[in-house]
Amino acid sequence: MKESATLAVAAKARALKAQGIPVIDLGAGEPDFDTPAFIRDAAAAAIEAGATRYTNTEGILPLREAIAADANRVQVQGVPVTPAEVVVSNGSKQSLYNAVVCCFGPGDDVLIPIPSWTSYFEMVELARANAVPVLGDAANSLKVTADMLEAAATPATKGLMLNSPSNPTGAVYSRDELAAILALASAKGWWVIADEIYMRIAYEERAQSVLEIAPSRDNLIVINGVAKAYAMTGWRIGWSIAPVAVSKAMTNFQGHTTSNAAAVSQHAALAAIAQHERANVEVEAMVAAFRKRRDAVVAALSAFPSVQYVHPAGAFYIYVNVEGFRGAADPGAAFAAAVLEEYQVAIVPGSAFGTPNWIRASYATTASIAVEGLTRIATCLTA
Ligand SMILES: Cc1ncc(COP(=O)(O)O)c(C=O)c1O
Repeated sequence: MKESATLAVAAKARALKAQGIPVIDLGAGEPDFDTPAFIRDAAAAAIEAGATRYTNTEGILPLREAIAADANRVQVQGVPVTPAEVVVSNGSKQSLYNAVVCCFGPGDDVLIPIPSWTSYFEMVELARANAVPVLGDAANSLKVTADMLEAAATPATKGLMLNSPSNPTGAVYSRDELAAILALASAKGWWVIADEIYMRIAYEERAQSVLEIAPSRDNLIVINGVAKAYAMTGWRIGWSIAPVAVSKAMTNFQGHTTSNAAAVSQHAALAAIAQHERANVEVEAMVAAFRKRRDAVVAALSAFPSVQYVHPAGAFYIYVNVEGFRGAADPGAAFAAAVLEEYQVAIVPGSAFGTPNWIRASYATTASIAVEGLTRIATCLTA
C-alpha cells in the first residue's frame, strides 16, 4: 500500500512550520468552516438523550429515512429510493470501500477515470481486482467520455468509478455526459459506483446526481456523506444507496469490520439532512464563500496567461498543469517540492491522482491566503 500523498505533503509542511517557517497550506481536502451550530446542538442533545450505544449496523432508521427522502428530492428516475437501499457508514470513504469489496474481486477490471481521487486505486487493489486508469480529455476538463471508457474495456471489465464534481479537478459532468456513461454501463452490465460527495459544491450549474439520470438503479451504487457539504469531516458519516441485495452485502461486510457508525454522529447527520431548509441556508453560505475564493483564485491566475488549469466548476480544488517543470521525470512531484521549499506553499502532486503532469491546490482557506498561494504557484511555474 502506498502512503497517502496528501498526508505526506502535510507532514512536510508541518515540519517546515515547526521550524518557524510560515507555510501556505493548500494541500487540505476539507472545508475550513465549523460544523453549523444547530447540528452541533443536535449532537449534544442526542448524547444527553442516550445516543451512546450500538445502533443497527446499517444505521438508525430515521437517518436512513431522511437520506432516502433527500435522494427523492432530486426526482429520482423510476421508483422512489427506500430506506432499505441505504446503508450508513463511517464516512463516504468506508461506503466506497464496502461497495468495491462487495462488487469486485480477483480477475475483475475496474475502470477509473483519471485524474481520480487517490483512494480508488488502493480500494480496488485491496479487493484484489485490477484498477484500469482511463485518462480524461485535457480539452474537456480532463473528463472521460463513454467512448473512452468503452475503448478501455475488456471482457474482464466489471464496473467503473465515477466522481462528479471531481476531486482533484473540480470538473462537473453534464447531464448528457453522465447519461452516455450510464447507458454504456447499463448495456455492458457494469456496476457504477458514483461518488457524489461534492455534489452540493458546484458554481455554474447544479451538479446532477446519477439517481436523476439513470433509467434504472439495478447497477448503481451512489455514495455520499456529510463531510464536505455540511463541514462535518470529523463526524465520519457517509452512506450508500444501492440495490437491496447489495445493501445487504455491504451491511454484512460492515457488520464484521466496523459495525455501526458512531451513534452521536448519526444523530448529527440526521439534523443536517432532516432539517433541510435550515441546513440549506448554511450550505449555501459556505458554497457562496467557496465560490468567491474560486473567483479570486481564477482572477489571480489571469495575470499569468501561460499557466493552464482545469476550469474549477465545483468542489474546492484547482488542478494546474506543470508539464515540463524543470525537465523532471515527475513534474508534479518536482514542482511540489520546489514550491514548498522555495515559495513555502504546500500542494499535492498530480501523481497522487494518476496524472504526474499536474498539481492540485485547495482553496478551502481564506480568499487572501488562496490568492497568495496561487500567485506563488504561478510565479514558481513561470520563473
Ligand atoms: C472524492 C472523495 N470521495 C470521498 C472522500 C471521503 O470523504 P469522507 O470524509 O466522507 O470519508 C473524499 C475526501 O477527501 C473525496 O475527496
